[in-house]
Amino acid sequence: MRLDLKTLRDMKGKTPICAVTCYDAAMARLLDQEVDVLLVGDSLAMVVQGHDNTLPVTLEEMIYHTRMVARGSTHAFLLADLPFLSYQTSVEDAVRSAGRLLKEGGAQMVKLEGGRAVVPQVTALAGYGIPVMGHLGLTPQSVHAIGYGKQGKDSAAAQTLLSDAAALEQAGAAMLLLENIPHDLAEQVSRQSSLPTIGIGAGPGCDGQVQVLHDLAGWIPDFTPRHAVKYMEGGKALQEAARRYAQDVRERKFLSK
Ligand code: KIV
Repeated sequence: MRLDLKTLRDMKGKTPICAVTCYDAAMARLLDQEVDVLLVGDSLAMVVQGHDNTLPVTLEEMIYHTRMVARGSTHAFLLADLPFLSYQTSVEDAVRSAGRLLKEGGAQMVKLEGGRAVVPQVTALAGYGIPVMGHLGLTPQSVHAIGYGKQGKDSAAAQTLLSDAAALEQAGAAMLLLENIPHDLAEQVSRQSSLPTIGIGAGPGCDGQVQVLHDLAGWIPDFTPRHAVKYMEGGKALQEAARRYAQDVRERKFLSK
């Protein structure tokens, strides 16, 4: 049986929550029993689809990938990102998009980016029984406005982030993701909020951590974001396997042993 929201919320302050992004059934099968949360992140636009940022991925594509991850997993909590323009435009769009990720994709919770600006959306989703995770700090869907640098660095920005976190909690958010902010600020949010916080580039004071699978696995050998921790050299291992295979074929050794 899948982990549920109550279980994750009960883990706050007791057991660190482990999350990783996942985009298809094959990977979901490998990861399902190892982590608590599989996030179908809109990072799929970059690491799977090859775009420069997360903006191009569509709701249809997010549903398609969420469905694959749902099919490949039975244990981990399934979280999916609301992609750019699927929720900012109106509360109605947010409810419809989030509802489709649950209904057609099999997600148990959706994640959206932003603070006070998305409070009406969070209030509506929570009101309709759709669990929602807020995403604060570096919000990649705002790349053209804020870039990819660390957020919340000065005291005014830190105060804004703290009040955004409180506003999202008040609106009914179930969890918070904190991306690329100072460690002490993430720790302060985690202490002040009753919601579990999941960090990426936000230090050890969060209630859990998330990594992008391709970073963790080293599948993009020539690029490692600052917040990424590589647990294997998967890209190099795959290239080496492909090289050996190609060599065997070219030397007519393949299947001849
Ligand atoms: O889309 C994504 O991969 C994310 C990261 C912050 C984990 O939201």
